[in-house]
Amino acid sequence: MTPMTRSLVSGTADPGTAAIAGVPGVFDAALAGRCQRLVRADGVVLPLATQRWQDDADGDDSWMVDRCAGPTLDLGCGPGRLVVALADRGVPALGVDVSVQAVQRCLERGAAVLHRDAFERLPGEGRWEHVVLADGNIGIGGDPVGLLRRCRALLAEAGTVVVELEPGAGLWQGAAHLEGTAESAYLAAPDDTTETVMASAWFPWAVLGPDEVDDVAAESGLVVAERAASGARFFAVLSLI
Ligand SMILES: C[S@@+](CC[C@H](N)C(=O)[O-])C[C@H]1O[C@@H](n2cnc3c(N)ncnc32)[C@H](O)[C@@H]1O
Repeated sequence: MTPMTRSLVSGTADPGTAAIAGVPGVFDAALAGRCQRLVRADGVVLPLATQRWQDDADGDDSWMVDRCAGPTLDLGCGPGRLVVALADRGVPALGVDVSVQAVQRCLERGAAVLHRDAFERLPGEGRWEHVVLADGNIGIGGDPVGLLRRCRALLAEAGTVVVELEPGAGLWQGAAHLEGTAESAYLAAPDDTTETVMASAWFPWAVLGPDEVDDVAAESGLVVAERAASGARFFAVLSLI
């Protein structure tokens, strides 16, 4: 039988230390394919769609892309597949991400991107027609109402937030970290079959499902204008009240 050692490589051990607004590098290992799941402090484990982040936009993504007709900001754009898909359609689009890994990948594939926190000053505040929060990004900052209010401030008067929701989930807010299993050459000797658990620092995160989106939108000064499932995913368009 193969010996297996589980060792925590990095990250803080205490979810109580996650009170900071955002941790720039926490998604780097996931974006590099070394973390495959998001683990909430309440023990719930959610798989990360790391392959989808790297791929080109697919059929389900087109639900979001179809709803962005004018200048679009993709907050937490990751490797930038939606920015590329929008640009290919002639829609001006800018990705924003705190991760160096994400920004490098965006630049490699020709996506316009800004290396910045979504809560920092951004270009064109109050003039964007659409803000996209794809693939769990309603969780950014751990406070969906605060994030949607931020989106509202970025939008022009008739603007919309195009948001992906977690099917079957309610509203959860708390600390989370990213974990992965790595057979990593630089963590183990070449002949060592050690399986290593990678873990990021704890950071504030949130999960929002379709049943709770109306209340969260209303509290943020927004209303759900459209909602739909596409494949296994679920999306909504929020407009200003
Ligand atoms: C779940 S991934 C989604 C990636 C991308 N939306 C996609 O679908 O490919 C979350 C992304 O949000 C970024 N992120 C997290 N907090 C952020 C913040 N405060 N400001 C900007 N980007 C952030 C992470 O670096 C990561 O790339």
